Amino acid sequence: MSLSEEINRSWEQNAAAWTRAVREGLIPSRRIATDQAIVEAVLARQPRRVLDAGCGEGWLLRRLHEAGVPGLVGFDASAALIQSVPASLRAKLHVARYDEVARGAVSFGECFDVIICNFAILEEHIGPYLRSLANLLRPDGTLLIQTLADSPIAAGGEWRTETFQTMDGTWEPMPYFFRTAEGWRRVFQDNGLRVVSLLEPADRESGRKLSMLFAVQNERAEV
Ligand SMILES: C[S@@+](CC[C@H](N)C(=O)[O-])C[C@H]1O[C@@H](n2cnc3c(N)ncnc32)[C@H](O)[C@@H]1O
Repeated sequence: MSLSEEINRSWEQNAAAWTRAVREGLIPSRRIATDQAIVEAVLARQPRRVLDAGCGEGWLLRRLHEAGVPGLVGFDASAALIQSVPASLRAKLHVARYDEVARGAVSFGECFDVIICNFAILEEHIGPYLRSLANLLRPDGTLLIQTLADSPIAAGGEWRTETFQTMDGTWEPMPYFFRTAEGWRRVFQDNGLRVVSLLEPADRESGRKLSMLFAVQNERAEV
């Protein structure tokens, strides 16, 4: 089984445990800072159309719906997670993988003001994914990518395994490619994307950084 197949299989198998963890606020970093950071970053751009790429069980779509964002679209590789997105959001949902989107296998209609990847880009070779998402943006649209906090390693990135051992219940381990800030900057540059801002949400009490939140735009975007 390839690493991407392993990633997808783990999310199908972890769907119920993940949905519970998210909805019951069991992940401290999300509770402390990273959820609020991505919600604020999206709403600050006053978007009318938003795509949540790798939306999971849909918590962010729900928050954006409550904030009055009218055009909500999401996709995720896990059918089980997509099924748990509340129908009341009236979001347009697709069961799809990034590589299928990159091949043009999904039709999204109009372009987006904001596209979000919230802890959802887990593979190593992501250039085609980034380019296809960037092509779905309006000319001045923004791609928001929230990912694990920086931890400089020489290579700029490496495969790791998330075992979910701090969480209750039974979990399937998930391989993922960890990328440093430098690694992210390189992949953006190589794929025609310009970093507009980088936030590093932190735990106010300890000062520990909890994530990196990149806002990127097409190089040719008007500013
Ligand atoms: C850590 S969860 C984050 C989910 C959601 N963005 C959130 O903030 O709760 C990672 C998500 O990425 C999705 N995912 C991973 N690889 C994917 C791929 N190649 N295509 C689409 N979704 C993918 C998983 O199914 C899972 O829902």
